[in-house]
Amino acid sequence: HLTVKERIDKKRKAALAGGGQKRIDAQHKKGKLTARERIELLLDSDSFVETDMFVEHRCSDFGMEQDRNKFPGDSVVTGRGRINGRLVYVFSQDFTVFGGSLSGAHAQKICKIMDQAMTVGAPVIGLNDSGGARIQEGVESLAGYADIFLRNVLASGVVPQISMIMGPCAGGAVYSPALTDFTFMVKDTSYLFITGPDVVKSVTNEDVTQEQLGGAKTHTSVSGVAHHAFENDVDALLNLREFFNFLPLSNRDAAPIRECHDPSDRSVPTLDTIVPFESTKAYDMLDIIQAIVDERDFFEIMPNYAKNIVVGFARMNGRTVGIVGNQPKVASGCLDINSSVKGARFVRFCDAFNIPIITFVDVPGFLPGTAQEYGGIIRHGAKLLYAFAEATVPKITIITRKAYGGAYDVMSSKHLRGDVNYAWPSAEVAVMGAKGAVQIIFRGKENQAEAEAEYVEKFANPFPAAVRGFVDDIIEPSSTRKKICRDLEVLASKQQVNPWKKHANIPL
Ligand code: COA
Repeated sequence: HLTVKERIDKKRKAALAGGGQKRIDAQHKKGKLTARERIELLLDSDSFVETDMFVEHRCSDFGMEQDRNKFPGDSVVTGRGRINGRLVYVFSQDFTVFGGSLSGAHAQKICKIMDQAMTVGAPVIGLNDSGGARIQEGVESLAGYADIFLRNVLASGVVPQISMIMGPCAGGAVYSPALTDFTFMVKDTSYLFITGPDVVKSVTNEDVTQEQLGGAKTHTSVSGVAHHAFENDVDALLNLREFFNFLPLSNRDAAPIRECHDPSDRSVPTLDTIVPFESTKAYDMLDIIQAIVDERDFFEIMPNYAKNIVVGFARMNGRTVGIVGNQPKVASGCLDINSSVKGARFVRFCDAFNIPIITFVDVPGFLPGTAQEYGGIIRHGAKLLYAFAEATVPKITIITRKAYGGAYDVMSSKHLRGDVNYAWPSAEVAVMGAKGAVQIIFRGKENQAEAEAEYVEKFANPFPAAVRGFVDDIIEPSSTRKKICRDLEVLASKQQVNPWKKHANIPL
C-alpha cells in the first residue's frame, strides 16, 4: 500500500516518462524530440508550469480501462511558460502515448490552456505530433476536435495562435492548425493531409507518397498551407522563439518594442541606385527591405510560395512592423491569385494585432489570362484590396517604381487610408505601361514612338500622383529608413475606428 504522497510521486514520475523508454527511443530514432524535450527547448529554462499532469483518458472499451493503458497526463503535455520573459501557453502532443492521438481528455487539456490564454491575453503555441482521433474513443474524440476548433475561431484575432507541425497531422486534426495564424513544419518528419496516400489511391487512383502529398515542401511551396519549414526539431523551436519575439501578446497589446542598436536616422546610400534605369529590368525587393529594417533582420513568411509578393516581420527602431512588397524578380511583381491571398492574410494578421504595415510597391498590374480569370482572380484579388482598406493600423507606403492600374489602388494607396505615402523619383504611377497605353489610345495611328515618348513624359514619373496629393512626398531612397522611423513615432498614437458591424464579409 502506497501513501498518498508516494502515489503522487509515482504518478508524476509516470507522467514524465510518457509512453516509456522504448517508445521514446523510437521517437529519437526518427530524428524527433519528445513532447517534453520540445517544450524545454522552446521555453525559457525553468519557466514551464505544467497543468493537468494527472489527467487520464476515460475510455473503457477495447481494454483501455486496464492500468497498463493509462498514462498520467495522457497523450499531451500542457501548460504555460515564457519566451524571452514573455508569457505563452503551450501544448505539446506526446507521440509516445497512443501515437499522440486525441482523446476526450487530451482535448480538454488543450481547451483549458486555450481558455486561460484568452482570459489573460497570451499567445498559444501548439506542437503537433499526433496519429489523429483516438480510435478507441470514437465520437468522444471527434467532439474534442470540435471543442478545439471552436476555441481556435474564438481566439482568432484575440491572441496569436501558432502551430508547429512536428510529426503526423491527418484527417480532422489538420483543421486546428489551419485555423491558427501561422503553421510551421519540420522538414522530412512532419506531414499534413486530409487523407493519407492509401485513401488517395483508392479514390482517385493517384500514386503519391506521404511526403509528396503533405510534406513540408508541398505545403510551403505548392499548397500554401504552411508558412515556413525548418530543418529539424531544434532548428524549428529556436526559430519559433525568434518569431515569437515579433508578436504582441494579444490584441490588447501594442506591437513589442525592443532595444535597437541600429540608428533610426541611418542613411542607406545604396538605395539611390538600386532601381534599374530601364523599367523592364528586375531587381530584388528583399535587398531594399533588408537594407531598410533594423539590423537586416527580416523574418519572411511563406518565402517559397507566391514569390511575386514578399511578406514578413521586421523592426523599425526596435518596433515590430509587418512588411509587404511586390517582388519584381518574380513575374515582374504582378499580383495573381496566390499572392493576393498570401498578402491579404498577412495584412489582416498585422491589423488584428496592432502591427504597423509598411508596403513597398512595384507592381505592373494583375496577371492576365484564363487560368487567373477562371480561378477567380477578381474574388481573390479583392481580398488584398479589402485587407488593406479595412486595416486601421499605421500604414506607410513607398512606391519604388511601378504602380499601375487597379494594383496601384490595392497596394495600400492613399485612397485606402494610407497614412504616409511616399514615391521614390523612379516611381511611375499610371493606368498602364507606355507601350500598352499607346497601342490602345493611338491604335492604327502613325508616330507611335512619338506618342509613347509623350506618354512617358506625362505619366511615367511620380508627378501626376504628387500634384494631386496621392503621394505625400517624393523622397530620396537613401532617406527612406529615417523617414519611416520618424513617421512610425508619430503614428504610434494613431486612432481609427471602422463602422460598427457584427463582422465584415470579406470575399472568400
Ligand atoms: N488512435 C489510437 N492509437 C493510435 C492512433 C490513433 N489514432 N494512431 C496511432 N496510435 C498508436 C498505435 O497503436 C501505436 O501504439 P503502440 O505504441 O502501443 O504500438 C502508436 O500509436 C504508434 O503508432 P504506429 O502506427 O506504430 O506509428 P507509426 O509512426 O508507424 O505511424 C501513423 C504513425 C500516425 C501514420 C499511424 O499510427 C496511423 O496511421 N494512425 C492512424 C491515423 C488515423 O487514421 N487517425 C484517424 C484519423 S482522424
